[in-house]
Amino acid sequence: MCGIIGIASYKPVSVNIINSLKKLEYRGYDSAGIATIKKDLIDEKKCSGRVDELEKILFKTPSDGNIGIGHVRWATHGIPNLINAHPHSSESVSVVHNGIIENSDELKKNLLSKGLKFKSQTDTEVITILITEELKKNKPLVSVFKTLNKLKGSFALGIIFKDFPNIIIGARRGSPLAVGYSNKENYLGSDSYALKSMTNKISYLDDGELCVLSKNEVSFYDFSMKKINKKVHIVSNDENMAEKGDYKNFMSKEIFEQPITVKKCVNEYIDNLKKDINIFNFPIDPREIKKIYLIGCGTAYHSCLVTKYWIEELTNIDVETDIASEFRYRNLKFDKKNLYIFVSQSGETADTAAALDICKKNNVKTCSVINVIESTIARNSDWVLPIHAGPEIGVASTKAFLGQLIVLYILSLKLASVRGEITKDIYIKNIQNLITLPETIKSILKLESKIQMMAKEFINARGTMFLGRGSSFPIALEGALKLKELSYLHAEGYPAGEMKHGPLALIEEGLPVIVIAPKDKYYEKTLSNMQEVISRGGKIFLLTDNKKDALSENIRFGLRVPHLDNLLSGILLTVPLQLLAYHVALLKNCDIDKPRNLAKSVTVE
Ligand code: G6P
Repeated sequence: MCGIIGIASYKPVSVNIINSLKKLEYRGYDSAGIATIKKDLIDEKKCSGRVDELEKILFKTPSDGNIGIGHVRWATHGIPNLINAHPHSSESVSVVHNGIIENSDELKKNLLSKGLKFKSQTDTEVITILITEELKKNKPLVSVFKTLNKLKGSFALGIIFKDFPNIIIGARRGSPLAVGYSNKENYLGSDSYALKSMTNKISYLDDGELCVLSKNEVSFYDFSMKKINKKVHIVSNDENMAEKGDYKNFMSKEIFEQPITVKKCVNEYIDNLKKDINIFNFPIDPREIKKIYLIGCGTAYHSCLVTKYWIEELTNIDVETDIASEFRYRNLKFDKKNLYIFVSQSGETADTAAALDICKKNNVKTCSVINVIESTIARNSDWVLPIHAGPEIGVASTKAFLGQLIVLYILSLKLASVRGEITKDIYIKNIQNLITLPETIKSILKLESKIQMMAKEFINARGTMFLGRGSSFPIALEGALKLKELSYLHAEGYPAGEMKHGPLALIEEGLPVIVIAPKDKYYEKTLSNMQEVISRGGKIFLLTDNKKDALSENIRFGLRVPHLDNLLSGILLTVPLQLLAYHVALLKNCDIDKPRNLAKSVTVE
């Protein structure tokens, strides 16, 4: 999704803006641009397509301003093209924007009626025109304030001014924005990750706040224009984990580093000596919890679905799961005895952050299971459980999904133990299983060549289905999501038992169907559902951890992973599904790390 960079310096900024925009590429975008103040004029350069293109343009016609803003755009209003790319500049001001201005049509109509002209189809240009008009009467900060008061919707903004060539103004409502500090240089960025190569000193704007940056100074203001102080965070430098190394792309790196990230996560939470889980300071006494809500989007939502089965299996707590964009508009009855858990890799997903805000307004206890601990969702929750996966750059989530599952599984076990709902023996056995998990994942990654063969059978498929029961149903959903995100192949995840109620009509000769059947209480039932698919011509790919099942001649392809524990099978069976999606996409020559139309961090509603 869109990304913002701003740099105020004593030396030309365009090279560093380009380098930082490259760090934001992982978010998913379709065009890029930069504006600097150069000899009393706004020097704007844009391109449709990649930051590399913008770099080439700058190479031919350099921008040497010491103050500038840059942007990667993920289209919302207006098609992805050169004109709609940010920045949007007038003679006096240049603006980059993340978010959506919901009343832009109304504002635009009004401005058009006054004879003002627009170049693009974007909602952002309304901001440029409004500030330009205000600047005829006011100084920059007041002009921005007055403009923001007219806007409905969400935004993070970076703004530079031709006649005030030493400042950048940043503003936030809804979409995240960070400020970085260095010697004779200050920065604006839509996440701290993009600023990390320049500084580790970061402040985060909260909703309604503004900042004014110059090369020597940063001032912050609240929504009433009162000057405020902001905390400076020293952020961790995990740059190495964000480099591709010898891997073809980030996604393969992230799949193959899962034994390491899972080990790191397990080590953070498990006390191997005491055979106990280091989770303390529950915001509600676990014995008092009436109900747990698990909320997320995309892959994170699938983690919520898996966890529902775990908590129900291990404890007597009721669980409800919801997609954040649904949760935030439901007419819910909030209860102080409920715990509301938000799952998010980035911690910046707009719907998840908004759902969390609603819980906070209703004074209920919130927890977040998060990868980016400096994120908005982490900062706004009562309790944070980090997943320790390190930066995840591939748009399709892999190692973060396993990290979420590990933390949520550990949390489920701890809840069961504190509530006295599992025996000490089972608790310890589960802890031991967790400790062996990284090695088991390593052995599954060795199955890659088999999965590569399997992938060939999907290249010409018209569609595919993933089936599972129990906690393998959300794993089926995740397998289908990975395949569609990466290879653009239509894929549906379904509970195997539900096939008869409609989807069986889709089965035709040769349709590839992936059946996820660990040896749990659903195993026999899943195999019966599989037979129904076979009888109708479906081509079966069976994934299981059962040592001696019938990988019969009716099955096109069988893949066996080691068995650890029924509850952990979902984690293990996810790995071949990630590799399958990866190899199908590779064979189809798709852009693995940046699938079309998708964004890593979805900061608009
Ligand atoms: C986007 C990403 C997905 C991710 C989802 C939720 O759609 O492409 O990979 O699962 O957002 O993101 P979050 O950062 O909240 O986990």
